Amino acid sequence: MLDWTQLEQACQNCRRCGLFETRHNVVFGVGPKDADIMFVGEGPGQQEDLQGEPFVGPAGKLLDDMLSIIDMGRESCYIANIVKCRPPQNRDPLEIEQDACMDYLRNQFLLVKPKILVCLGRIAAMRLIRSDFRITREHGQWVEKRGVWMTAIYHPSALLRDISKRPDTFCDLLAIREKAREVNARY
Ligand code: URA
Repeated sequence: MLDWTQLEQACQNCRRCGLFETRHNVVFGVGPKDADIMFVGEGPGQQEDLQGEPFVGPAGKLLDDMLSIIDMGRESCYIANIVKCRPPQNRDPLEIEQDACMDYLRNQFLLVKPKILVCLGRIAAMRLIRSDFRITREHGQWVEKRGVWMTAIYHPSALLRDISKRPDTFCDLLAIREKAREVNARY
């Protein structure tokens, strides 16, 4: 396992998959290194690629609004993505790209040691919870894996496209607040 400095360096220099060719920046992740709550999205979009930070584009603005519903600020949780480089045209990251990047996320997760992990959207849920995870049916459900409570909510981009999903997400966010209280997760 790498320490934070080694890990960030390895990511910055990474050429494990083809995405390095088109990236402007590696989007490593942000937040307190000892956060109790970690969010994992899919991969950087255009703004994230340009700025080197996760969720700073339109989906990020909505994520901030979503977090504020439960009085959570992005400064109190750790935010990362399944892949750290932008897939061209914002396509879904390929299996081979996710595979290449997973060691980094696993290492990051082991360093942060969150009590709660929230997958943002289908791609993260299928990778981190179960490969056949169905976001429409299973969002908001909780599983405990090796002492970590995990759930998935709709990706903010999906909520921008389809506002009819927002009431469900409101309930899922309240459940995250409830779980945080239950397991004493600070934010
Ligand atoms: N969508 C994601 O999944 N991650 C980001 O960082 C931005 C948009």
